[in-house]
Amino acid sequence: MKNIILTGDRPSGKLHIGHYVGSLKRRVELQNSGKFDKIYVMIADAQALTDNFDNPEKVRANITEVALDYMACGIDPAKSTIFVQSHVAELTELTFYYMNLVTLARLERNPTVKAELKQKNFELSIPMGFLTYPVSQTADITAFKANTVPVGEDQLPMLEQAREIVRSFNGLYGETLIEPKAVLPDNKACLRLPGTDGMAKMSKSLGNCIYLSDSADEIKRKVMSMYTDPNHIKVTDPGDTKNNPTFIYLEAFSTDEHFQRYLSEYANLGELKAHYERGGLGDMKVKKFLNAVMQEILEPIRLKREELAKDIPAVWDMLYKGSEEARKTAAATLADVKKAMRIDYFADRK
Ligand code: TRP
Repeated sequence: MKNIILTGDRPSGKLHIGHYVGSLKRRVELQNSGKFDKIYVMIADAQALTDNFDNPEKVRANITEVALDYMACGIDPAKSTIFVQSHVAELTELTFYYMNLVTLARLERNPTVKAELKQKNFELSIPMGFLTYPVSQTADITAFKANTVPVGEDQLPMLEQAREIVRSFNGLYGETLIEPKAVLPDNKACLRLPGTDGMAKMSKSLGNCIYLSDSADEIKRKVMSMYTDPNHIKVTDPGDTKNNPTFIYLEAFSTDEHFQRYLSEYANLGELKAHYERGGLGDMKVKKFLNAVMQEILEPIRLKREELAKDIPAVWDMLYKGSEEARKTAAATLADVKKAMRIDYFADRK
C-alpha cells in the first residue's frame, strides 16, 4: 500500500500559532521525512463556504493568505501538491454518492459539528451544506486514497466519520476506498493551544490569536499582555502553571536550547515551572522569555511570508498547477468508485 497524506484547512482566516503547533509543523516534518509517496495539502474553500456562503470574497482573499502561510512554514510545492478544493469538481460528485451512506442523526451527533452549530447559533435553520461537510471531507480524503491525515484534535470526529463511510462503501460495493488514520502532535500542549486570553481555543472572533504573519511588535504586545494565573498577584505568591497560557505556550514552543540562549539560570522548563509554583518568580520574566522564544520561531516564517507575498500571481500559478494535478487523481478515484457501484455505464465509450 502506498503512503499518502491528504490534509487541509478552511480559508476563513489567516493561520495562527495554534494551527502551527497543532498540525502545520507536523505536516512539514512528515513532508521532509521522505516516507510518503504523495502529499496533498488542500485549501478547503468549498468547506469554508458552508458557513461563509454570504461572503465568498472573504474566502477568496483567505485562499491567498493560507497559501502564503503554508509555504512560509515550509510546505514546499515541489514536494507537496497544494490545491484549491473547489477546482476539483470530482469531490462534489463523490460527496453525493457518500451521502447515501450516512444518516442525518449520525451527522447531528458528530461532536465537532455539534459544537460549531451551537457556536454559530444556527439552531433550527441549519444549512444542509454545513451539516454535510463531514461527508465532503470524506470525499476529500478518499479521493486521494490517503491513509494518513495530519490534523488538529478537533478533526478526530471527522476521521471517525470518514472511516465509517469507507467501511460502509467497501462493504456494499467491494474493496475500493482506503480507511484513513489521523496523525496528532505528540506534545499534549500542542493539541489545543489556548488563546492569549486563556480561553480554550484561539479564534479570530475572540481576538486572542497570534498570527504567523504578525509583526515583531504585535507578537511582543500580545505576549506581554497575556492572561496568566489570576491568583498570582505578588511575585512571592505561589503560581499555577497548569491553566496558565504562558506556561502552556512554553510547553508547546520552548526547548532547552532556548533556555541556554535566553534564560540560562534555568536548565529547562521543569525548573522554571518549579520556581513559579513555589513562588518568587514574576510573570514579567516568564513573558519576556516567552517573547524571545516566539520571536525566534516566528521571525523566519514572517520573513519568508513577506518575500512570497511580493509575487501573488506566482502563488496562484502554483495553486492552479496543484489543483490541475489533484483533479487528475480525484478523477481516477471517481472512476473506480463508479465502477465499483456499477454506474460506469459509458466507461467503454471513451
Ligand atoms: N475541516 C478542516 C478545517 O476545519 C479542513 C478540511 C477539509 C480537511 N477537508 C479536509 C482537513 C480533509 C483534513 C482532511 O480546517
